Amino acid sequence: MCGIVGYSGQKNSLMILLDGLRRLEYRGYDSSGIAIKDNDKIYNRKAVGEIKELEAKIGDKQIEGNVGIAHTRWATHGTPTEANAHPHCDCQGKIWLVHNGIIENHQKLKKQLQKEGHKFSSETDTEVVAHLIEKYYQGDLAQALKKSLHDIEGAYSFVAFHKDEPSRLVAVKKGSPLVLGLAEDGVIVASDVTAIIKQTRDVIYLEDEEIVDINGSNFDIFNLANEYKKKKAMYVDWSIEQLEKNGYPHFMLKEICGQPETVTDSLRGRLVAEEGNVKLGGLDNIAKELNDMKDLISVACGTAYYACLVGEYMLEEYADLSTKSIVGSEFRYRKYCFNKNSVILGVSQSGETADTLTAIKEANKKYITTLGIVNVVSSSVARATTAGIYNHIGPEIAVASTKAFTSQLVTLSLLTVYLGRIRNMSFPMGQRIVQELEKLQEKISKVLENEEKIAGIAKKYYQVPNFAFLGRKYNYPIALEGALKLKEISYIHAEGFAGGEIKHGSLALIDKNFPSIFLVPEDSVYEKNLGNIQEIKARGGNVIAITTEGNKEVAGIVDEVIYIPKTLEMLTPILSVIPLQLFAYHMAVIKGKDVDKPRNLAKSVTVE
Ligand code: M6R
Repeated sequence: MCGIVGYSGQKNSLMILLDGLRRLEYRGYDSSGIAIKDNDKIYNRKAVGEIKELEAKIGDKQIEGNVGIAHTRWATHGTPTEANAHPHCDCQGKIWLVHNGIIENHQKLKKQLQKEGHKFSSETDTEVVAHLIEKYYQGDLAQALKKSLHDIEGAYSFVAFHKDEPSRLVAVKKGSPLVLGLAEDGVIVASDVTAIIKQTRDVIYLEDEEIVDINGSNFDIFNLANEYKKKKAMYVDWSIEQLEKNGYPHFMLKEICGQPETVTDSLRGRLVAEEGNVKLGGLDNIAKELNDMKDLISVACGTAYYACLVGEYMLEEYADLSTKSIVGSEFRYRKYCFNKNSVILGVSQSGETADTLTAIKEANKKYITTLGIVNVVSSSVARATTAGIYNHIGPEIAVASTKAFTSQLVTLSLLTVYLGRIRNMSFPMGQRIVQELEKLQEKISKVLENEEKIAGIAKKYYQVPNFAFLGRKYNYPIALEGALKLKEISYIHAEGFAGGEIKHGSLALIDKNFPSIFLVPEDSVYEKNLGNIQEIKARGGNVIAITTEGNKEVAGIVDEVIYIPKTLEMLTPILSVIPLQLFAYHMAVIKGKDVDKPRNLAKSVTVE
């Protein structure tokens, strides 16, 4: 979604703002803009398209100014045009502001402001706020912004400045993330910590309805009741290398190929083989609730939701725990039968997905224990949940989630052992899972050796317009994930099915032009899968199969085979998804698509 950067300090703000915008590119955007206070003038430029278009507009112009704001916009209200790009300003060009989120009552507010004489120059909901602040402004930007908030409905984060208040930047958030970076030379405020860490690793996450009033290196945080908030900075340990491609052509490939290490990072310090158990310090404070838990309800979106579906199979089979998964955007609108021993689990890479966060907040209102599996430390989901497990895999930059998915599966298997051992999982069973988890790094590296072969298969199939992805049991959600990956970055239509379900209707689609990718490892549903493959072959459909190393039977029936090492059935998804990630990647590359930033999508979906 949209990205925000603001700076007030001793340095020239232009380079800091542009660097921040470039680091936010991965989130997805369609236009960008900056506004800098340059002595008594405002320097403002906007461009449609990539940041380099904005840089071209700025050219070699020397811009002075230590205070500025910048934005990448992902269009919601109004098409991607320069007029609609942020920053927006009031009628007199004095109040400048960038915004993430949606102002739900903007039409009503706009009509009212127009009646009062305000002139608008964009179709955005954001501009309304610049005019509202203008209406309330009496020499104090923070107070005017605060008054405006009473009129606004929706989710937002804003950063604003006023031409007549020299080094002042004011920011506020509600339902959309905002982080402060405390550098030696000043304060940087951004929607995402990736825009900050080149300047500083000391950050403060703002809570909803907190206002930060920045003046160079000084800042104060207040709430809406004007109460002063003392907040401690935390240290972010992500490195700059983690934010760069390090020789890979795309972040997505870097992230796919980094999975032997990231899976190990998620396991580090957590396996206790001699006890057949795992250590999850983040759950200690809810040990009693987990002990008494009768059912677990997982909430997530997209790829993270598919991880939860795999988790259902793991937790039910090995932890004897009734589990269901709900798509974040549906959670609020259905009635669920919770009881006081239910626990809600939010799974989110970014920790900022609005649909997942809203579900967690809804559960908190009902006093249900919430826990999170989150990658971004101190993100909104992490802060909203009572306890949790971090993925510890560094930033995921490509819009298509890959390393976060395998880490979510690993983390769910850790949770399975943890909860299973509290219930009736035996020591040998716990130990078996732990020992298999220890071997994942090596096995993932083996799967990655198939990359050239998979690139070759992509070359053969890249012109095909439709694909079916099939799997059963643990690999059914992987079929869904494989289809999502292909759609998302190569724009090829794909559908995921439970292997046994296709004959109930969708088999009608299959002919020689409609290939299937079948997940058929040697597991408890292997024979059944073989039967489904035969049904597809009998209708002339081509089949690409993912099966277990050494298997000859599958190779004898299908058109292409990719092998993965043998592991425990519950862990096969961690290996079987990787060929699907590589397949989607190579299809997109051959088709010349923007792999890391697919059209219409954003990395972190911070609106409902
Ligand atoms: O940050 P989150 O894990 O909460 O994101 C959830 C989904 O938006 C995300 O997984 C999305 O489906 C990916 N782009 C898929 O690759």
